[in-house]
Amino acid sequence: MGSKKDNQKNWIWWKHGTIYHIYPRSFFDSNNDGVGDINGIINQLPYLHELGIDAIWLSPVYASPQTDFGYDISDYYQIDPLFGDLNDFSKLVKKAHKLGIYIVMDMVLNHTSDQHPWFIESRSSANNPKRDWYIWKEANGNRRPNNWRNRFGGSGWEYDVTTNQYFYHSFLKEQPDLNWRNPEVKKALFKVMKFWLELGVDGFRLDVINFIVKDSKFRDDPPLLRQFFGAENVFTRNRPKSHKILASLRQLLNEYPDKVSIGEIYMLPPGNSQLAASYLGDGTNSLHLAFDFSLAFKRWNAKIYEQTIQNWMFAIPEKGWPCSVVSNHDLHRSYNRRYFRFFKESKARLEAILLLTLKGTPFIYYGQEIGMVNGRIPRKLIQDPLGKRFWPFYSGRDKARTPMQWDNSKYAGFSDAMPWLPVNPDYTIKNVEFQWQQPNSMLLLYQQLITLRRKHTALSMGEFRWIPTGVSGILAYERIYEKQRILVFLNFTPFSKSLSITGKKVLFSTHENSQPFINQKLLPFEGIILKPEKNSLK
Ligand code: NOJ
Repeated sequence: MGSKKDNQKNWIWWKHGTIYHIYPRSFFDSNNDGVGDINGIINQLPYLHELGIDAIWLSPVYASPQTDFGYDISDYYQIDPLFGDLNDFSKLVKKAHKLGIYIVMDMVLNHTSDQHPWFIESRSSANNPKRDWYIWKEANGNRRPNNWRNRFGGSGWEYDVTTNQYFYHSFLKEQPDLNWRNPEVKKALFKVMKFWLELGVDGFRLDVINFIVKDSKFRDDPPLLRQFFGAENVFTRNRPKSHKILASLRQLLNEYPDKVSIGEIYMLPPGNSQLAASYLGDGTNSLHLAFDFSLAFKRWNAKIYEQTIQNWMFAIPEKGWPCSVVSNHDLHRSYNRRYFRFFKESKARLEAILLLTLKGTPFIYYGQEIGMVNGRIPRKLIQDPLGKRFWPFYSGRDKARTPMQWDNSKYAGFSDAMPWLPVNPDYTIKNVEFQWQQPNSMLLLYQQLITLRRKHTALSMGEFRWIPTGVSGILAYERIYEKQRILVFLNFTPFSKSLSITGKKVLFSTHENSQPFINQKLLPFEGIILKPEKNSLK
């Protein structure tokens, strides 16, 4: 595929480019049924191209009963009619490639839907050839086989009357876990991945990949509270065998040029950089990238951010590569998270600079680039099974999945029909069309930062080094590539901060009226990107 950076030696799209995460139900509805679809994504490719991103990761679009909105797959070889069909998907791949945009699919290997023919067979009798493709177990006396839980609340064991046994599910009972200890399972799923690779996709985001293997002795997990405080002997995830499987998955991907695997590493509590990085192996023999969600859960404080970033960089193996993520379809919108209570817009702008200037592949969740906020979903409109189950204590994940806001027409230009989730009321000002015109908008900020990152190799490919400023509340670092040096200063505070900056050219500032040379200070919440005329930071 022709890449924008073909002329840049060693430029690798999944390392040095920017990846945009689309939740297909909510991106753009081309057939006006209220649900986003693949043709909708095709329609918006010019937008994504203009924004400047290099790749799209699509949350699952495979055939599915949609009990967990596609994370419950009933046919790995088909596109769900809700989103289109295989032709539409191929068209998307081809059209995206023409624009130099790579396509990453979500791949759910830990579980299928209970409607998948494999599971239907598996549950039909205890001696069915597919029985062992899932995790079945006898009762323990008159109790469940052991204390393993599902991550959505309650026991992970579901009793099945046909054979008087239990099956294990890490998530909903409609999502039975596959048994990766059975080599047939591996064979079948590797075949699935080959199918999509042959069709032209550029890689996979691997759903809860650290869950795929469970303890062969079915030992009890520690109680949930202890797990939350970092208990190590958790028998339902991070089992040694999963690393072996990932090593062979890497080999499979190596058979094709330029592919990527990105692991979602689920953990309790969130933010164990070492654990996330352990899934990179030595950087060449396991996953290409792994998500560390630490930043999304940290307090807004320059020192804490510094430590968090430092931990993550430090954990990455020498030949490995980090990535940066603050938002996705399971979390709060980053704009709205707990620690952003005040000065949300300013913090979101600074965070955009951080994301796009750190060492590592940046991930942008759709709508983040226009500062989309958490939706407020009335109880009767809640769609997420988690929200339905735990309301009013937890309203679920719908809030981060509301329709993309394209313009100020009815339903924000997402659809002509009533969308599957309500549009956020702020869409009249927070929308793509408006923000393209509005100087200093979040959208232009993202676009400029992405462009800057592409233009200055140090920002995409360079090494990372902290700059000691001795000034509290400031995060300062530089990126270095050969002779190029780019410096970044982020003022995390609502106060002006004096900083002696001379001999540098401002490439970018969050503030239109920035005068760092004249005033020798950073304005409240100002973020600047500089290029030295010569090495002169005092
Ligand atoms: C993680 C996915 O991101 C989430 O949306 C899903 O519910 C679970 N895995 C189960 O597949």
